[in-house]
Amino acid sequence: MNFSEQLKSYQDLINQRMVTDLPESGLRPSQLHSAMNYSLQAGGKRLRPVLTLAAHDLFPGELNPVPAALAVEIIHTYSLIHDDLPAMDDSDLRRGRPACHKAYDEATAILAGDALIPLAFELLAREYRPHPQLGLDLVHMLARTAGGEKLVGGQMEDLLAEGTEPNEQTLSFVHANKTAAMIETSLLLGFRLGSMGGDEKLTQLLIEAGHALGLAFQAVDDLLDVTSTTEALGKDACHDEDRNKMTWVALAGIDRARELASQHTERALAAFRKMGGGNEFLLRLAEHMLVREK
Ligand code: IPE
Ligand code: IPE
Ligand code: MG
Ligand code: MG
Ligand code: MG
Repeated sequence: MNFSEQLKSYQDLINQRMVTDLPESGLRPSQLHSAMNYSLQAGGKRLRPVLTLAAHDLFPGELNPVPAALAVEIIHTYSLIHDDLPAMDDSDLRRGRPACHKAYDEATAILAGDALIPLAFELLAREYRPHPQLGLDLVHMLARTAGGEKLVGGQMEDLLAEGTEPNEQTLSFVHANKTAAMIETSLLLGFRLGSMGGDEKLTQLLIEAGHALGLAFQAVDDLLDVTSTTEALGKDACHDEDRNKMTWVALAGIDRARELASQHTERALAAFRKMGGGNEFLLRLAEHMLVREK
């Protein structure tokens, strides 16, 4: 399989299992479960679960990485539902459709996000039950990443920074925590389930790769906000400027933001190269993420 076929095959697997393995829309209360499914099944690039599957395939093992991949996408999807709420970024469009609070209502969107968080951990606890130590490690890693010091902490500072004078220190904190932490953890969960999951040196390299890839990813997200269109992105373009967001583009301009994204990507590539194993796909994916158009 070439790179595009492999990417599509990972994405198809996630999209399929998102339907078969999770609570159906009709489950009572159907208003809630249908809103959860509305956002989960709206597509999206599935980048984080793809990273989980690909990191597992660096050194494949006997354990199934799919539940871990679903768990990271569930947490990511909740974070997008809440990110779009009027009290946060106030975005009406997500993944090419009305945002959850637009398709339903604000209260339903808040609750759909709320319900997705424990669902991710329920899935991990249930599916890795035959391997309790490993299961607990995965729960711990994902909980820490989704929590107040990482994802939610990054989101908090992102909001607090709105309308303030851009500075590198705040911006680095926001990007590292709201975005890079989940990208790093997506890789780590998959790798942990592979045959070299306990190897410290490889784990350290993967942390380096994930962190750099995550910083590149958010820099590109900020760039696309100004260089792309609402139609191409499936979410409102030029939204960051409207909201007075602190971004690399606002702090240092488009060219510098692009340069930074390239530098972070180079660092990620170097770490993936050092890891060896079946790293071909991840190398191509990191390059693809830098030049993505949505
Ligand atoms: C959007 O993530 C939120 C950021 C961290 C920038 P994605 O660009 O991965 O969104 P989807 O999952 O493809 O919709
Ligand atoms: C959101 O960052 C990161 C999350 C944790 C959801 P953004 O606010 O830049 O994401 P978009 O641009 O709305 O997708
Ligand atoms: Mg935001
Ligand atoms: Mg947003
Ligand atoms: Mg953005």
